[in-house]
Amino acid sequence: RLEKIWLSIGVSMLVIFLIVIGTMAFSMGMTPPSEHHHTIDPTKVTETAPFDKPAMTQIEDMHYEAVLVAYAFGYDPQTLEVPVGSTVDFKVTSSDVVHGFEIVGTNVNMMIEPGEVSHVSHTFDKPGEYLILCNEYCGTGHEFMKTTIVVK
Ligand code: CUA
Repeated sequence: RLEKIWLSIGVSMLVIFLIVIGTMAFSMGMTPPSEHHHTIDPTKVTETAPFDKPAMTQIEDMHYEAVLVAYAFGYDPQTLEVPVGSTVDFKVTSSDVVHGFEIVGTNVNMMIEPGEVSHVSHTFDKPGEYLILCNEYCGTGHEFMKTTIVVK
C-alpha cells in the first residue's frame, strides 16, 4: 500500500521534471535567434562582404542590387541611380544602432537592425528623385539621416 503511494509520488515527480525540461527547451526554441546573436558583428559590418563595398550593382537588364550600410547619421552610398522601370533588390544593414529605411512615395518601409540584413525589392516605374529616410529615432542627427535614389 505504502509502496504504491511512494511509487506514484516518484512517477509524478518524474512527469513534472519532464514537463519543466520540455517547457524550457520549447521556450528557448521559440526565442528569435536575432536576440542572441548578430548575423554580422555590427562593428565589423564595413569589413564584411558585401557591405565592405556598398554600391548599386547591375545584376541583369533592368535588375539591380543595392547594398547599403545605414549608420548614425547617413547611408552609404550617398546617391544611387537606376533607369526607369528597374527593379532594385535592396540589402541593408546597420553598423551601429537601429535605423529605418523608408523610400518616400513607395511602400518600402523597413527596420534596419545592427548586423542584420534586411531585404526589400521595389520596381521604380516613375522617374524622379526618391528620398530615402530613416524613420526610427537613432540620435541627435536622426532627422538629417537620408539619401536619394535617382530614377531616370
Ligand atoms: Cu537613423 Cu534615425
